[in-house]
Amino acid sequence: AANPRTASTQTATAPLGPDARAAVHKTVLMCRPDHFTVSYRINPWMNPELPTSTPLAVEQWQSLHDAYRSLGYDVELIEPIPGLNDMVYAANGGFTLDGHAYGAKFTYEERVPEGPAYMSWFEANGFEVHEPRAINEGEGDFLLSNGAILAGHGFRTTLESHDELRRIFDREVVSLRLVDPSFYHLDTAVAILDESNIAYLPKAFDDASRAELERRYPDAILVDDQDASVLGLNSFGDGRTMLIAERATGFERQLRERGYETVGLDLSELLLGGGGIKCCTLELRR
Ligand code: ARG
Repeated sequence: AANPRTASTQTATAPLGPDARAAVHKTVLMCRPDHFTVSYRINPWMNPELPTSTPLAVEQWQSLHDAYRSLGYDVELIEPIPGLNDMVYAANGGFTLDGHAYGAKFTYEERVPEGPAYMSWFEANGFEVHEPRAINEGEGDFLLSNGAILAGHGFRTTLESHDELRRIFDREVVSLRLVDPSFYHLDTAVAILDESNIAYLPKAFDDASRAELERRYPDAILVDDQDASVLGLNSFGDGRTMLIAERATGFERQLRERGYETVGLDLSELLLGGGGIKCCTLELRR
């Protein structure tokens, strides 16, 4: 069952023990942060008074792009649009599954034009596009796990959009309520580790949602506040190697104990906009 991409990746990185986990080939969409800056505040991480460096953001973004390529991912790109500071956070551009793309409808007017921009990209790149009626911020709040869609709500994405998701994709949709403003998108509070397991920050959820996560994922990794405070959970992987914020050292240790490989990256400039690795990544499932 070995995929040749995976095999070449394995020889390129550290030698693997017999317990190494299997990688699943990934295709992702990214948007170079050519117009990244912080000039408004729509989440607690953003401070328009603090200076940002667009070249540094591009350099850090490039390191993520190159890490994906060296793991054998297919990386597709959407053209950045001047004036859309946050377009680099591609995860919010929509949600794709089985060749269908559910478009995003943003909460804050600063990001509203990104919705149609991503929808035209999906349309031009082989997806059947579903225009959203309800406010939702795409894969920032919708994560595929075990065939079901974990769906956040509370800050950005609305519960009404969860119904739209159910109708479009005919999958189980598990609504989870986010309660901590610093973890305003689901992908800041949950990391998908592989088909069946996740890592999460318990305090980011209300009691009922936390109980649901405990029931579904008895072996989940629970991260601490320190790792969460560098958006350590905002990570992405292929079931074998997790790309994570390098400052999330506790999370890195937990992952290694479970047999995952880790690659630590510094996306500190993009953290000034309230996003990390996963925010810059939209998975394409044709
Ligand atoms: N500044 C962006 C916003 O507040 C950051 C988006 C982060 N994206 C994510 N998937 N968590 O909308």
